[in-house]
Amino acid sequence: MVVSISDLKNHVGEKVELRGWVYNSRSSGKIKFLLLRDGSGICQCIFFKGACDETSFEKFGELTQESSVKVIGTVKEEPRSPGGFEIGAQSFEVYQIAQEYPISPKEHGVDFLMSHRHLWLRSKKQTAALRVRAEIVSAVRDFFDGRGFTLMDAPIFTPSACEGTSTLFETQYFDETAYLSQSGQLYMEAAAAALGKVYCFGPTFRAEKSKTRRHLIEFWMVEPEMAFYDLADNMELAEQFVEYVVQRAIKNRPDEMAALERNTDALAKVKAPFPRLHYKEAADMIKKENPDFVIGDDFGGADETIVSSKYEKPVFVHRYPSNIKAFYMKEDPDEKGSSLSCDLLATEGYGEIIGGGQREDNLEIIEVKIKEHDLSMDDFKWYTDLRKYGSFPHSGFGLGIERTVAWVCGLQHVRETIPFPRLYGRSYP
Ligand code: 4AD
Ligand code: MG
Repeated sequence: MVVSISDLKNHVGEKVELRGWVYNSRSSGKIKFLLLRDGSGICQCIFFKGACDETSFEKFGELTQESSVKVIGTVKEEPRSPGGFEIGAQSFEVYQIAQEYPISPKEHGVDFLMSHRHLWLRSKKQTAALRVRAEIVSAVRDFFDGRGFTLMDAPIFTPSACEGTSTLFETQYFDETAYLSQSGQLYMEAAAAALGKVYCFGPTFRAEKSKTRRHLIEFWMVEPEMAFYDLADNMELAEQFVEYVVQRAIKNRPDEMAALERNTDALAKVKAPFPRLHYKEAADMIKKENPDFVIGDDFGGADETIVSSKYEKPVFVHRYPSNIKAFYMKEDPDEKGSSLSCDLLATEGYGEIIGGGQREDNLEIIEVKIKEHDLSMDDFKWYTDLRKYGSFPHSGFGLGIERTVAWVCGLQHVRETIPFPRLYGRSYP
């Protein structure tokens, strides 16, 4: 019977067939050891001279790393073996003897690994991180689907900018110019007027010429948008959401966390409510430790760490100056010059994982803002319609999946949080 390694616990004592790749192999006299990897796990297969088929024993030496094989043998419980089970092998069959594998257990440079990303994916840490990513994606969907939200997919080709014109990817759309979406938010605002509570979840694109450990050119963002939510409601939802996602990842993926050597004690503390800081409080905190910081400016990565390092939980910074935020942010009616915006800064120096806020819902003001930001009124006609036909207070936010995965996995760089990262200066493989 063909079984997967993760399912061996249900087949103790049975004769099974495993299919996978050679992770490692070694011989010592009358015993040959094969570590087999099948995508679901790793398992030790032992070939004893006399107990296994003779040709298999003789041909064992031909097995190179990553050769694809079929192994037949009997399942045995063995606490010392990875995964807790072992195969008393009878025979193996080869699909292909692999050529010399470029990735060896020795250290490789990041550039080399990135050029071999298609193979690097097979490594233990990489598969662990990508399984955590899949768990996070599924937690994201469950959270919103379970709370009355409707999934509304936003388009990728868009006629206009959402997050500033400097990071737009321009492309031809037949005889017109289009841009790859920077955010689905504006479309979610229209969708919220139709369905109340909605979210989109898909790839977004930013032509950011920055090589940092937090920036991807193509990244995945989940963006809920809620009719009749104000900034306070928005932050409450965001903290419940982040708690849910983080707690589910550590609960359901303990083996992966161990493979990543991620200490999850700090993550266990990620429980709502999270602290909330006014921009001015955060700015004062930063100024004390970074005298070069100009109050009124946006925070750099190091500035964010100054703030977040004071807390064991993620921290909201709200009411950033209007002039450093996007055109759609509503101004606080009680505090001129401040926007009803909120960013969520993760713990342990991982920085901003959420950006969002309450949207400007007044027609005259949004028209002025569009002009001030040098955006074309024609492109935004549909958007201003939302302020003409039953305008409504509404709020939402966007959470970057890769930054969240990096934080939860304790990874140094977002490049390992997505199967095939698109980075500034790299689009291969
Ligand atoms: O703060 P941002 O730009 O907000 C928006 O796009 C809003 N329209 C979202 C909304 O309110 N619906 O991006 C939101 C999040 C950031 O906090 C970060 O986690 C992630 O998206 N992000 C990136 N992740 C990786 N690489 C990049 N270049 C990113 N830019 C933003
Ligand atoms: Mg932001």
